[in-house]
Amino acid sequence: MKRFKLQWILLLLFISGATLSAQTISSPDKDFQMTFSVNDKGEAWYELSFKNQPVIRPSRLGLELKNTEGMMDGFTVSDTETTSVDETWEPVLGEYKEIRDNYNELLVTLKQEKANNRIIQIRFRLFDDGLGFRYEFPQQSQLNYFVISEEMTEFRLAGDHKIFFIPGDYDTNEYPYTTTTISELPAVMDKATIQITAQSPIRNLAVQTPSMMVSNDGLYINIHEAALVDYPAMDLNVDADNFIMSTHLVPDAVGNKGYMQTESQTPWRTIIVSDDARDILASNLILNLNEPTDYEDTSWIKPVKYIGVWWEYFIRGKSTWAYSTATNVKLTDDFSKFTPNGHHGATTEHVKEYLDFAAAHGFDAVLVEGWNIGWEDWIGNWKENVFDFVTPYPDFDVDALREYAKSKGVRLMMHHETSASATNYERRLDRAFQFMQDNNYNSVKTGYVGQIIPRREHHDGQSMVNHYIHVARRAADYGIMVNSHEAVRPTGLNRTYPNWIAQESARGTEFEAMGGLPPEHTTILPFTRLMGGPMDYTPGIFQTLLSKDENGEQRVNTTLVKQLAYYVTMYSPLQMAADLPENYMRFPDAFQFIKDVAVDWDDTWVLEAEPGDYITIARKAKGKDEWYIGGVTDESGRTARIDLSFLPEGKFEATIYADGKDASWNENPQSYTVKSKKVTSKTQLKQDLAPGGGVAISIKRI
Ligand code: NOJ
Ligand code: CA
Repeated sequence: MKRFKLQWILLLLFISGATLSAQTISSPDKDFQMTFSVNDKGEAWYELSFKNQPVIRPSRLGLELKNTEGMMDGFTVSDTETTSVDETWEPVLGEYKEIRDNYNELLVTLKQEKANNRIIQIRFRLFDDGLGFRYEFPQQSQLNYFVISEEMTEFRLAGDHKIFFIPGDYDTNEYPYTTTTISELPAVMDKATIQITAQSPIRNLAVQTPSMMVSNDGLYINIHEAALVDYPAMDLNVDADNFIMSTHLVPDAVGNKGYMQTESQTPWRTIIVSDDARDILASNLILNLNEPTDYEDTSWIKPVKYIGVWWEYFIRGKSTWAYSTATNVKLTDDFSKFTPNGHHGATTEHVKEYLDFAAAHGFDAVLVEGWNIGWEDWIGNWKENVFDFVTPYPDFDVDALREYAKSKGVRLMMHHETSASATNYERRLDRAFQFMQDNNYNSVKTGYVGQIIPRREHHDGQSMVNHYIHVARRAADYGIMVNSHEAVRPTGLNRTYPNWIAQESARGTEFEAMGGLPPEHTTILPFTRLMGGPMDYTPGIFQTLLSKDENGEQRVNTTLVKQLAYYVTMYSPLQMAADLPENYMRFPDAFQFIKDVAVDWDDTWVLEAEPGDYITIARKAKGKDEWYIGGVTDESGRTARIDLSFLPEGKFEATIYADGKDASWNENPQSYTVKSKKVTSKTQLKQDLAPGGGVAISIKRI
């Protein structure tokens, strides 16, 4: 690391007021330029260009504070420092064995004379794939505690870009994506804001991050944040006439946005940019901006391929989380006195069947939902003590299942649905984790369905952000991996807390059973939600026609093969095979791909990508001479061109799982072929994908 001070360049420009001082840094490859400036009113501004094209026009920086002078103007630059870093590091689990962290940094120290000479700093890091910056509040006698009423960071975009968005919301990210232009956002926002449980849509025009945009000149721009710790999540207000986005932090119950004490900082604001969509998916910028883990031992953190007593709850009439016909239940009730409803999913016998199936087919774990008392009225009553996380239903034998799972070499996966009562969960957390340890569980799926308790707090506010991190950190003390559902969208914290192995935080497969997902959904998610971290998307549904009921046809809107492709295109070191065992047994040759596919990787090549249209990705399995390829398309069929030049020297056997010639997501989803082919690094495959279809390929050395 080399540190040196640059001379101040004094300029007189007229951007918005006279610029008094400005300083420019470049990315290591010189494609990006970022200029920071302070004008004659003492306002702080930044701008960003890529290959001489403006990406962010001059945009304001600053924060408004509660009951005191804001951090908005009256600044003078008291110091600047530049640094260059070029290092590599190894994630515990990941898409790459090694990640390069290469950037030029500018740290600006600003003094605000009119506010008692208090100091704030802005740190910019310019990488070859984009920019990260954050505010830092050093310890000082002039500033100790303060409350943020709003962060005022702007992103003034250079044109009326196409945008893939979900509406700004304080509580949920389970919206479907809408594609439009920035200027058309006001016209489509109402329709995009569909009804979802426990939602709090932002009334003025706002979108969530990661926000994915494409300019008319073919620039791909992704705005998100990294290292969201002790701070509310960021939505983006949109001024659709002037193409200006600005931070809209999630408030707490009394309307404040962030409680700060120096020495502290905001999360990083990230702008990932390229003229090639593939580079957006290949970017590690967000991970690079997160802190390395301080866990001494990470050897217990392992990739997980799992099945579960789960999908059957979503397919009408199959089984239920709840055990009895009782209503108005309490944790103090004797559940053995209640009348069983006859459809309880998590029975000892049924879980044993899943354990047998997992053992026979090489799965690491079996998730069991509905094992613990309280599901009879878990939703809708905004009650504090819905679950205790330690008391099983009368027909779920914890001891017997612990021993049975051990004898099969399979782990049971715990389920902690909190019903959004964070207070209750925090009080019971240690006992719940101890119970897991005592019964040989090493992973937990958490859930936050409903309105948060403490009441009027939000899923994405500062105190819940701290809650999720607390749960992950505490779990690590017990050797437990965490997969959180309905938590705040991820921001690369899986680097710092590698046992926080995956999250949902988006509209996943469950919605295929609740109205369906459009075929393009999974060509957008990797460019949006997955930019922040791995997703527990729960793929692998083979029986895509679900039922015909009074609402007509319920179906998963993909071909069977597209479900296979997800194991590669939807990165996660924790992957579910979500369908029922009996459905896998009907298609054993296709199921083979799910059994074989790796979930942790040495290397990744994004071969083809266009948000909203298609994605083709190849990956090398961690520590093995095996490669897997997944390709997906939207509702249009296409031909994927798969260049195998990433392969090393030698001869290989490829097994190609392809949509049948007559396949399509809505007409003939289960039509597929499985063929073998000899390939080398010189091979170029042309592979047809059906409408709403995909392709999956495994490659092994001969
Ligand atoms: C929502 C989760 O996303 C889903 O996977 C889970 O089954 C239910 N909550 C119940 O906890
Ligand atoms: Ca969910």
